[in-house]
Amino acid sequence: MSREPILVARNVTKQYGGFVALGGVDLTLQPGERRALIGPNGAGKSTFIAVLGGQQAVGPGSTVHFAGRDISGALPQEIARLGIARTFQINRVFRRLSVLDNVRTALLPSNGRVFSVSERHLTALTSPAMTMVTGLGLGRVAHDAAETLSLGDRKRLEFGMVLATRPKVLLLDEPTAGMGLNERRSLMELMVEHAARDQITLLFVEHDIDIVFRFADRITVMSRGKIFAEGTPAEIGANSAVQDIYLGTEGAPS
Ligand SMILES: Nc1ncnc2c1ncn2[C@@H]1O[C@H](COP(=O)(O)OP(=O)(O)OP(=O)(O)O)[C@@H](O)[C@H]1O
Ligand SMILES: [Mg+2]
Repeated sequence: MSREPILVARNVTKQYGGFVALGGVDLTLQPGERRALIGPNGAGKSTFIAVLGGQQAVGPGSTVHFAGRDISGALPQEIARLGIARTFQINRVFRRLSVLDNVRTALLPSNGRVFSVSERHLTALTSPAMTMVTGLGLGRVAHDAAETLSLGDRKRLEFGMVLATRPKVLLLDEPTAGMGLNERRSLMELMVEHAARDQITLLFVEHDIDIVFRFADRITVMSRGKIFAEGTPAEIGANSAVQDIYLGTEGAPS
């Protein structure tokens, strides 16, 4: 039985002046899959993620469909509302509020209108919020102000707040950047577990090849604004041309 893809990008192009950052990228994601997007610096990974999130407009002839609906040219907030979320843009962590209170506000149905919400309503969210905080591995810092968290814990909180918006697709551009090896793994484990539980499709950009091979169902390799290869970790691992673009200078920015 074939499933309907959740996201289909076709012939995505993007130019910065005369520079072709994306030269016709095709990508299809199946619901629930965990896809890694890899490639050398400057390959166009972040640009492509920005196109999917609506932060960058696509070139003529490019289309993006999400759950069967044409979202090419849609605004970022519309795309987010439909269910494609990115972590970086969620700057909704209130620094002075505790971890628990941040999650409580994120769980409000009309998020953002925190100041018009009754105390009774917020109190009713304490128990589900605490369950979520514990599930994020943040139980020990539940009552600490968000601004006091370590980088790893802050990423967990940000991730939890994105999850609370109930996205269908989550775009993660180097989610573990700046963290130590063990912290990276445990953050990825957390994200993958929660995504599986909530049936969220993940598209993540990652330079740490260990993480990619451990957590991706499929890997898409970009080089110089194009898809260079796509396959399972085993297929990509056995692809000598892929090794060449990493070991050689093929895709490196000039
Ligand atoms: N706003 C911009 N204006 C001009 N050129 C840009 C702009 N944003 C990106 N580029 C160029 O487009 C190319 C692709 O950049 P992008 O950030 O998408 O690469 P990337 O694959 O995410 O690289 P990295 O692994 O270093 O994050 C690069 O050559 C970059 O210099
Ligand atoms: Mg990038």
